[in-house]
Amino acid sequence: MSEIISGDSLEIVTNQQGIHQNLHAAVHKHLSTTFEKPYHDDNLVAFESFLRWHQSDKPLFLDSCCGVGESTVHLARGNPSVQVLGCDISTHRLAKVNKQSNNKNNDEALPENMLLLHADIIDIWRLLLAADIRPLQHTILYPNPWPKSKHLQRRWHGSAIFPTIITLGGSLVMRSNWALYLQEFSAALSVANIDSQLTAYAPELAEAITPFERKYIRSCHKLYQLQAYLG
Ligand SMILES: C[S@@+](CC[C@H](N)C(=O)[O-])C[C@H]1O[C@@H](n2cnc3c(N)ncnc32)[C@H](O)[C@@H]1O
Repeated sequence: MSEIISGDSLEIVTNQQGIHQNLHAAVHKHLSTTFEKPYHDDNLVAFESFLRWHQSDKPLFLDSCCGVGESTVHLARGNPSVQVLGCDISTHRLAKVNKQSNNKNNDEALPENMLLLHADIIDIWRLLLAADIRPLQHTILYPNPWPKSKHLQRRWHGSAIFPTIITLGGSLVMRSNWALYLQEFSAALSVANIDSQLTAYAPELAEAITPFERKYIRSCHKLYQLQAYLG
């Protein structure tokens, strides 16, 4: 199967025929081994700033790979009693918070119940788990697809970090314009005996909560959503 979706940065081209043939083996391997890569100092510093902000008596929403943080702002405004942590590895994207949205409240101050962290989410997931801080809700919206077959290990479900994502728990919501990414994630969850629901997702343009979502809707891409309760 070769899937081509037109549009510059939106194009997905894959040489993969359905679910990756090595997915199950990769997930089994990662579920039975411990991920022991040392933490990067910068991520430890970022996590310290999170700990200073975090209020343990409040529920936490985690918005992983939040890009410009638009979804983080959206979640924080919609859930004032919850603390919302957005994390992205790109300073360039994080610096654009509040600049990309169609939201007419763009010029408003950022909600106090949100924090944007510049860090590698791989370390942040592991540090949250080590500190026994579990998100009530975990969003991963439009993760980088890594569509080439040889890049399975760069997809979250093919990566050694996958067991950490599961063990962190919470209600997981993922969205993608590449159905196969979420089909694979769902298959990986099945290996760990976790059910998930994968559905078409068709928001109106005005309902978009991230720049990527907005771009995909504008270019008439089909979108998909995976939901799973991770405990
Ligand atoms: C396709 S963009 C989606 C951004 C945003 N969720 C949206 O929908 O607009 C993927 C994002 O994942 C971030 N990312 C990729 N790997 C990451 C990592 N290891 N840690 C944190 N962020 C990461 C990138 O910097 C980028 O902002």
